[in-house]
Amino acid sequence: MIRILWGITGSGDRLDGVLSAMLSLHQMKGIKVYVVLSKAAEQVWRRYGLWDELNTQFKKVTRETNSNVPFVAGALQIGHYDVFVIAPLTANSTAKIAYGIADTLVTNAVAQTLKGSTPVVLYPVDQKLGEVEIKAPDGTTFTIRTRQIDLDNAERLRNMEGVTVVSSPNEIPDTVKQLIKLG
Ligand SMILES: Cc1cc2nc3c(=O)[nH]c(=O)nc-3n(C[C@H](O)[C@H](O)[C@H](O)COP(=O)(O)O)c2cc1C
Repeated sequence: MIRILWGITGSGDRLDGVLSAMLSLHQMKGIKVYVVLSKAAEQVWRRYGLWDELNTQFKKVTRETNSNVPFVAGALQIGHYDVFVIAPLTANSTAKIAYGIADTLVTNAVAQTLKGSTPVVLYPVDQKLGEVEIKAPDGTTFTIRTRQIDLDNAERLRNMEGVTVVSSPNEIPDTVKQLIKLG
């Protein structure tokens, strides 16, 4: 059985695409996806009305209490999971990972995983300079302007050993399959 740990941080960007990518892997024979969320991620998925759907589709959904609880870092370090995916990755968590900060569940889990050999796949939400259309929790759309600092931080992740950065959620299933040699 291939075990994928899927970390979710508190971004509202393309949640439908993220959920489809998770499901497409979870529904493959021989693959199981386990879900862990930051505190902010739970708030965001509830606001977008997707919290119940997430908990229905995935049996094992856990939420951050603090950086070490639940203690996923240990299991990641000893290779219990085959791949660690974090999608979506907020600008906040992108910055923390880029600079080695490990004070939240997800950023700590990435820091500890990268000391071992389990591959890490990241989808930082801010990657393109300029205006981006965002879907609000009520379904309306609005436009934001991305910040150069967030793009620079995402770029730092691309150069990090053991990390694969994807530019869209729909790239994740193939990326994971290649990493676990199923592609
Ligand atoms: C509805 C909602 C949508 C959000 N969308 C984004 C987003 O698209 N990108 C982002 O970087 N932060 C977004 N945030 C802000 C983050 O949740 C916030 O920075 C939080 O501290 C991130 O914590 P985390 O990185 O530990 O999940 C959103 C917050 C809310 C309430």
